[in-house]
Amino acid sequence: MKITILSLFPEMINPIFNASILKRALEKELIEFEIINFRDFSTNKHKTVDDTPYGGGSGMVLSVEPIYFALESINTKSHKILLTPQGSTFNQKKAKDLVEFDHLVFICGHYEGFDERVREFVDEELSLGDFVMTGGEIAAIAMVDAIVRLIPGVLGSKESYENDSFFNDYLDFPQYTKPRDFMGHKVPDVLVSGDHEKIAKWRKEMQEKKTLERRPDLLKK
Ligand SMILES: C[S@@+](CC[C@H](N)C(=O)[O-])C[C@H]1O[C@@H](n2cnc3c(N)ncnc32)[C@H](O)[C@@H]1O
Repeated sequence: MKITILSLFPEMINPIFNASILKRALEKELIEFEIINFRDFSTNKHKTVDDTPYGGGSGMVLSVEPIYFALESINTKSHKILLTPQGSTFNQKKAKDLVEFDHLVFICGHYEGFDERVREFVDEELSLGDFVMTGGEIAAIAMVDAIVRLIPGVLGSKESYENDSFFNDYLDFPQYTKPRDFMGHKVPDVLVSGDHEKIAKWRKEMQEKKTLERRPDLLKK
């Protein structure tokens, strides 16, 4: 999969591809990654990418031109995502849908956001949640991370993500590691019983219980 991020602040994004699982995915050539600074596509000599809003008001609005020309410069078939708090909320199901594309493009806004006409040149609009950040970079990073870990070969095994919260509308089951007894807080006996059938049954029950207690809305779906 190829990932392109359009951003005015590449330095915010680069570090996440230099560590941990995303770094390994790059090294294994499971993903390709590029950042396009759409300031390079500014149509004026001062290289500005924003201007004051028509109708008045505070702040600066990102112009349509540099973003349009930056998108035009991408000559492979791609799925273009505008990052905006006004988009539909990103979730695990959306991550599963997006992992099917060969090339994803994320467009990060800043300042007061985009000239409304940018919306006409994208395939969808996504939000990280009902809150407003200063820019789209953190949203892009979060979404890319959630998508990339679903690419076959990025994690050790499919089970690593198939049991995760939200994969099948359940939260994950409780996990424990050594020590078996931490100041009287003990690991459930079933997990050290060696009986794999019993362990699987317990984990399924715990997933249902946890989900019912914490996120009954997921089960209603
Ligand atoms: C300060 S915000 C602009 C918000 C805009 N005035 C509004 O209320 O819809 C600047 C940029 O940050 C990004 N952004 C902020 N919050 C976001 C969120 N919840 N999800 C995705 N992107 C977000 C978007 O790219 C946005 O264009």
